[in-house]
Amino acid sequence: MPIDTQRLHQLMDYEAARDAPPTNFPALPPIPSARYTDAGFYELERQVMFRKTWLLAGHLDEIPEPGNFQRWDMAGLPVVLVHTEDGSVNALLNRCSHRGAPVAMANKGKKKRFTCPYHGWSYAHDGQLLAVRDARDFRDLDMSASGLQRLRCERLGKLIFVNFDSHTPSLRECLGALVDEWAEFDLEHCRLSRRDRFTVRCNWKIAMEANLEVYHVPSIHGRTVAPVLDSRRNVNTFYPGGHSRMVAPIPAGHTNPAWQSRWPEITNAGEIARTCTQSYSVFPNLVMPLNQFVIPPIQFWPDGPDQCIVETWTMAPDWGSTAENGPDMWTEDAGARPSLVLREDIEMSEAIQETLDATHATGIPLSYQEARIYHAHQSADAAIGRERIPADLQVEAVLNEPWWHPNEPRLA
Ligand code: FES
Ligand SMILES: [Fe+2]
Repeated sequence: MPIDTQRLHQLMDYEAARDAPPTNFPALPPIPSARYTDAGFYELERQVMFRKTWLLAGHLDEIPEPGNFQRWDMAGLPVVLVHTEDGSVNALLNRCSHRGAPVAMANKGKKKRFTCPYHGWSYAHDGQLLAVRDARDFRDLDMSASGLQRLRCERLGKLIFVNFDSHTPSLRECLGALVDEWAEFDLEHCRLSRRDRFTVRCNWKIAMEANLEVYHVPSIHGRTVAPVLDSRRNVNTFYPGGHSRMVAPIPAGHTNPAWQSRWPEITNAGEIARTCTQSYSVFPNLVMPLNQFVIPPIQFWPDGPDQCIVETWTMAPDWGSTAENGPDMWTEDAGARPSLVLREDIEMSEAIQETLDATHATGIPLSYQEARIYHAHQSADAAIGRERIPADLQVEAVLNEPWWHPNEPRLA
């Protein structure tokens, strides 16, 4: 189903009129603050959760032709993405089956085959081992079982996703309703304009969660974000699998900044995209704002319990000139520093981390309008497996299916 515009408008009216959380909305137990500081919990996230969820790893424009490859190490494992002869994209573990050298040393390039720089074993784009130097010196080497490990790799339009787990359902199944709701944004043709990375001194969830609520907007984004959304009319939606969405109308009288009119619009973008500030989160670490001008995802990569890498992207309909001239949603001076709105969030996120590190663990109370954060934590425990998580760090599953899309108790 495409986005249900009428229902969203009803919900905006509902949110503006209520004077308490909806009846029957569950009380959200406090989030243990040690989830943002504890090294053991960080390892569980990284080694379990990030190993079985679909992660945005690349864009087809980065490897446009057969033979083009690009390394991707953001999830903590060495991966190489390669555009194959038949037009598909493969993800391979960038680790030679001989003694572990990376078969792709350069960050990106073009190769007919991967030849290991150490002793010259060579591999096809599907990972198959093609040739071994001095093969006569190996006894019982099974060539057919000695290829590069192939990882799951699926695309949504030009977006390339990787999953390290063989049991997780397909990308489309995991995205669920989001696939149809995003159809109007024509991800098949969105062109990549920028991709940048910034190291931030806070747990990845602190930075991510600044994008899961608009409660903080009047305090720290008074001039940047506050003018583009009516937070009283904000509507949160919870999807199965930990995904969620916010939609808040752009106040009447707001005019789009001049830079936007320089770029072609996404022709099929619907009314919500054009009249609201809309942002999805895709479990576990992708935030996906969507409007008629740009598709600007942000990702939050764990890099230690109290450090993360914020990766920002700008994609847009073809703007018809060289790559350097495309739109840039998130940086200033072509990647030199994050944009003002990101800096506002980063400054606060780093300050919060310092406070949490320096003080005793407590419970963090969340309000109804911050419930997308709860949904993500609860889904993290489901992904990790509650039995693996120390009792004092667990989050109780209270926000359940009756509150997940397409159910809508608020209008019942
Ligand atoms: S490590 Fe790759 S050929 Fe030896
Ligand atoms: Fe923010």
